[in-house]
Amino acid sequence: RKGRTSEEVVRRYLQKVRNPPEEDCTICMESLCGPSGYKGPGVGGISRAESVGRLSQCGHQYHLQCLVAMYNNGNKDGSLQCPTCKTIYGVKTGNQPPGKMEYHVIPHSLPGHPDCKTIRIIYNIPPGIQGPEHPNPGKPFTARGFPRHCYLPDSEKGRLVLKLLLVAWDRRLIFSVGTSSTTGETDTVIWNEVHHKTEFGSNLTGHGYPDSGHLDNVLEELRAQGITEEECLRD
Ligand code: APR
Ligand code: ZN
Repeated sequence: RKGRTSEEVVRRYLQKVRNPPEEDCTICMESLCGPSGYKGPGVGGISRAESVGRLSQCGHQYHLQCLVAMYNNGNKDGSLQCPTCKTIYGVKTGNQPPGKMEYHVIPHSLPGHPDCKTIRIIYNIPPGIQGPEHPNPGKPFTARGFPRHCYLPDSEKGRLVLKLLLVAWDRRLIFSVGTSSTTGETDTVIWNEVHHKTEFGSNLTGHGYPDSGHLDNVLEELRAQGITEEECLRD
């Protein structure tokens, strides 16, 4: 992976398109039959002759320059996500700062899960300095409300969610650095796209139990990050 250019990474997931369809590229909104509308830096060397590519699994087509520009705007981890259908090529990782994830079983039941105990997850992330993968590299970030405690039923499905959350943690997908939608604070550690229940015996914030759809929702959110049970068995 080291030393690969962005164009090489993107090309790994593409098939050639000799005769582009009379459709617009949904990244730049210009016709696939003409040049990319992307005007930014870093894609000048891409030849016009092979200017359109088809993503190999989902089949969606884009200007090669547009895909390279999109890749360069992300965290450049070697993976690519189709902007139309969200199919993930490679292994998606995030920009979660360093920290610790721990869990244990506590001998109490959650509302709505009277027949099992509870898994408590404890996330701890200290404040730090933003890296190149963050919105403002070199600037400090804050970390509010840590350690953050989260709860899952200690059922078969709850344990599956825990297993996948551990994978998500390793891939740096549980938290991100950005602007908190709750507090409006910028340059702070925020939850990423996977919902957690942070209330144990009550539901005052909407992030508590009972919530019968929660585990299925989380499995769906993890899938959108490229984390599924089948995929973990391959690891
Ligand atoms: N518990 C669980 N999830 C939450 C909470 C919460 N208390 N508050 C917000 N979320 C969810 C939101 O629904 C959204 O999907 O996290 C996502 C990002 O929301 P932000 O407000 O940007 O995230 P963040 O600033 O990290 O969360 C604010 O969550 O755990 C608490 O201590 C934390 O008070 C802070 C709050
Ligand atoms: Zn385009």
